[in-house]
Amino acid sequence: MASSSIFHHILFLKHPSLSDNSPVRSPLRFRSTIRATSSIALDPGLSTKNSPVSEVEFSCPICYEPLIRKGPSGFNLPAIYRSGFICNKCNKAYSSKDIYLDLTVTAGTKEYTESKPQGTELFRSPLVSFLYERGWRQNFNRSGFPGPDEEFKMAQEYFKPAEGGVLVDVSCGSGLFSRKFAKSGTYARVVALDFSENMLRQCYDFIRSDDTILPTNLALVRADVSRLPFSSGSVDAVHAGAALHCWPSPSNAVAEINRILRSGGVFVGTTFLRYTSSTPAIVRSLRGRVLQNYTYLTEEEIEDLCTSCGLINYSSKVRQAFIMFSVQKP
Ligand SMILES: C[S@@+](CC[C@H](N)C(=O)[O-])C[C@H]1O[C@@H](n2cnc3c(N)ncnc32)[C@H](O)[C@@H]1O
Repeated sequence: MASSSIFHHILFLKHPSLSDNSPVRSPLRFRSTIRATSSIALDPGLSTKNSPVSEVEFSCPICYEPLIRKGPSGFNLPAIYRSGFICNKCNKAYSSKDIYLDLTVTAGTKEYTESKPQGTELFRSPLVSFLYERGWRQNFNRSGFPGPDEEFKMAQEYFKPAEGGVLVDVSCGSGLFSRKFAKSGTYARVVALDFSENMLRQCYDFIRSDDTILPTNLALVRADVSRLPFSSGSVDAVHAGAALHCWPSPSNAVAEINRILRSGGVFVGTTFLRYTSSTPAIVRSLRGRVLQNYTYLTEEEIEDLCTSCGLINYSSKVRQAFIMFSVQKP
């Protein structure tokens, strides 16, 4: 079945009142006209007796207890979109909004909203999200980034101990690496995770235009890197491309990544260094760590941060201001 008809089928099942003649269009097909529809209404305290409940996949971002899933099984976009998730401890339900599963602490709030620091907020913009893979990311090459194909190859080398496991692409943006990880067939499951609703929409659009990715074991999740919705020790690999400098608190983020990794699990990140080996000493001392709301670290600071969070076997590759580093959970 073609991808568009699979989704039409799914949506029809999920919202039986919607048809092609309906004035209300499906969020999967026309996301700009309808927003924030909760998928399956899950009553807190709902009994899971007689319902298909699959193995633990996600955890509550508030208490980290595993979420109970109700809905079709399968770790792919259509099945997850049609599923509801509930934390029996917090009495809170989580479901898919548009095309991603919202696992932020504020999911479902009606009055309360929250602004994050600029490094997070900038990427929530629809324009920045649209431009990201259409020119913005290519600019990184000028700072030494080798480009997605080469960065993917380099990351895959580091991720050898995690083959066959669960990979979370934290701060995936529009999913340029999540798609590569999913297509590689190297992992049992890939989670493309970002805080930006619009980046996740872009990510979905790119996935939809590639029929080979739709049926893969890939989920789109909205979450904050400082509050990752996974149980401790449940993840084999964490990738964070060009992201550390955007995070509100790199230390909270790395501590959280350490928490979700299993023993032997691997974290690979890339970022911009504060200065390169050719930056004159006088300029180095003048260059602030926080520049235009981004946190630029030195290589020594990155290694120190990772080891102080309990990660080991630090290794890195540097090219101008580009660094790819890898660490492991003991
Ligand atoms: C420069 S983009 C990187 C995208 C992609 N990984 C890449 O390699 O090109 C940085 C991403 O970090 C995300 N981000 C910023 N703050 C975040 C947070 N608190 N939690 C999760 N993601 C965050 C942004 O939404 C954005 O998509």
